Amino acid sequence: MEEENKKMIEMAIDARKNSYVPYSNFRVGACLQTKSGEFYTGCNIENAGYTATNCAERTAFFKAVSEGKREFQKIAIMGGYQNGELDFCPPCGVCLQVMMEFCNSETFQIILGNSNGDCKVFLLKELLPMGFGPKSLKWR
Ligand code: THU
Repeated sequence: MEEENKKMIEMAIDARKNSYVPYSNFRVGACLQTKSGEFYTGCNIENAGYTATNCAERTAFFKAVSEGKREFQKIAIMGGYQNGELDFCPPCGVCLQVMMEFCNSETFQIILGNSNGDCKVFLLKELLPMGFGPKSLKWR
């Protein structure tokens, strides 16, 4: 595995510790890299009104965007039940849509890992083919 991806997976595992998951007990951590090389981590934050839950990926994106970052290279995601094994945890549709807003789907990489140390890398366009994004609207 690429050394940098390994580091991002470790950062995602660390971010996972802060998950607030009283309803699912399913902890997810993410590590997002900007084009200029900075890292922003995130965890999932659940809510008694379930739909207000924020996924780890969106937490990482919103932290970065709120600090002025708009261009991203890749994201590592690690998820699984509190005391269980980590299996590949692909982003939900809402998170893919947020990625579509800020990332080039031809180049943005989504890195998934598991407890065995295996890793899969997808391009955004593979997980969200023909996604609806800023270019679909004619204002730019
Ligand atoms: N979740 C994430 O944070 N990211 C994903 O990629 C999939 C799902 C969260 C949402 C919820 O808190 C829990 O995992 C179970 O769906």
